[in-house]
Amino acid sequence: MEERVVSQEALGAEAQLEGSIRPVEFSQYIGQEKVKENLKVFIEAARLREESLDHVLLHGPPGLGKTTLAMIIANEMGVSIRTTSGPAIEKAGDLAAILTALEPGDVLFIDEIHRLPRAVEEVLYPAMEDFCIDIVIGKEATARSVRLDLPPFTLVGATTRAGMLSAPLRDRFGVHLRLEYYNEAELSFIIERSSELLQVSMEKDAALEMARRSRGTPRIANRLLRRVRDFAQVQGDGKVSKELADNALEKLQVDKLGLDHIDHKLLTSIIEKFRGGPVGVDTIAAAIGEESNTIEDVYEPYLMQIGFLIRTPRGRMVTPQTYTHLGLEVSQDE
Ligand SMILES: Nc1ncnc2c1ncn2[C@@H]1O[C@H](COP(=O)(O)OP(=O)(O)O)[C@@H](O)[C@H]1O
Ligand SMILES: [Mg+2]
Repeated sequence: MEERVVSQEALGAEAQLEGSIRPVEFSQYIGQEKVKENLKVFIEAARLREESLDHVLLHGPPGLGKTTLAMIIANEMGVSIRTTSGPAIEKAGDLAAILTALEPGDVLFIDEIHRLPRAVEEVLYPAMEDFCIDIVIGKEATARSVRLDLPPFTLVGATTRAGMLSAPLRDRFGVHLRLEYYNEAELSFIIERSSELLQVSMEKDAALEMARRSRGTPRIANRLLRRVRDFAQVQGDGKVSKELADNALEKLQVDKLGLDHIDHKLLTSIIEKFRGGPVGVDTIAAAIGEESNTIEDVYEPYLMQIGFLIRTPRGRMVTPQTYTHLGLEVSQDE
């Protein structure tokens, strides 16, 4: 009981930290130059015309800054943002309630938009296209459809899997933006910025080492920073040197490329149980006790990006680089 209370408070503190380092305007949003450049033009144009911004679809792996960007869009447009997510909207009526409560120009952010129920999605089509919804009043013989006008608004949708969005929904977004993994310099900059905000003194080469191990992902960079900061406070003098960062990262089981114990489990199981593949993602998931969705959204994209995993029509396969990195011999008996 006691422990539970403590951990919930700790969770609150982490969320607060997260809030204090989240960029709120373009100038604080590091990297993704093309995305920013385009968005700035669209926002400026919409403001000049005194119109709402066209609907924006953001896609890319978790932790790359989709939610942050949605908030920045609203902030730069000078409007409010209403946040929800695909699975949270169960019925058409839930969405109608949200839409009719919007103020002119507002941003409606729907996270995990690929998980919207189909019936809800259909309400969204006329809302996005003509700023109106059709609702049915009454029952059976007396039922009639009434058209309700909505204020002009901007839908910002975020998804980790653009491929899972239905074509009619995808086509109704005027702006499609794909977020890319960040390079080391950008992540290092993000870590330095966050350290300043958290008042952690951080050496440059420590920041760079952490950047290297952040899997191209700001959320992971900030998470590593918080953990390394714990080690600095408890075991060091509060200052993060390269040596302290190296030690802490080793204790956290984050290897030189940023792969953690689940990445290792995933790769070694493909090698040891399935001779390096090809093997279906559901089979891998069962073998290591993770959800297939988590593997597809969180682990695979980065492993593919660095060439440790390839997707074939018959399933996933590791590559010679995978064996080298794990210090294993490529099996001969194939
Ligand atoms: N471009 C960026 N510059 C600085 N920090 C960023 C950037 N993108 C993301 N972050 C940080 O990473 C964290 C995760 O970003 P978030 O927007 O929640 O990712 P997503 O919604 O894509 O999963 C945020 O709290 C933010 O502090
Ligand atoms: Mg998000």
